[in-house]
Amino acid sequence: MKIAIIYDSITGNTKKIAEAIKEECRNQDIIFGDMQTNVNEAELIFIGTWTDKGNCSQKVKEKLESIQNKKIAIFGTAGFGGSEEYFNNLYQRVKACIPKTNEILGYFYCQGKMPLSVKDRYVKMITEHPEDKKLQVSLENFEKALSHPDETDVENAKSFARNIIKRCV
Ligand SMILES: Cc1cc2nc3c(=O)[nH]c(=O)nc-3n(C[C@H](O)[C@H](O)[C@H](O)COP(=O)(O)O)c2cc1C
Repeated sequence: MKIAIIYDSITGNTKKIAEAIKEECRNQDIIFGDMQTNVNEAELIFIGTWTDKGNCSQKVKEKLESIQNKKIAIFGTAGFGGSEEYFNNLYQRVKACIPKTNEILGYFYCQGKMPLSVKDRYVKMITEHPEDKKLQVSLENFEKALSHPDETDVENAKSFARNIIKRCV
């Protein structure tokens, strides 16, 4: 079975997860690359995205819309969350872009650190609105995301890939 692992990553978080899945697939026939990668030959496609305004990236959306008759597994990183509910909501939105001829096998999401400019924005907003508790939570979440994806995320991504492959052979 030919497996494609393709991903879109701006700051490297999703790339790290893609590399982990690649490592897990080292004994398989794989295609690895970005959204320009031709996946026609693949039977199973792992497609990875960073989270942009509560959805997959535009590049991933366009790629997903072009795929037909494949088995697809989604992976991604998100600055917020750390809760399965948040990740599941992201997955539902990504899933909605996938044509019905495909078989969707599941998802793996973990947190991914955000640029320091995001923290600077929160700090500025907190100075202006010290009473806003939501901003404080956002800042705490920013700090929590800083260590991700970590080793546990990498191991969980590998385990996810292993289970998906098992279901396909
Ligand atoms: C413009 C922009 C929008 C973002 N929107 C969200 C969002 O809606 N939800 C979220 O959880 N993270 C959001 N993030 C955070 C990134 O998805 C997160 O840091 C991700 O791990 C980046 O992945 P990458 O390193 O592969 O590019 C956003 C980041 C940027 C730059």
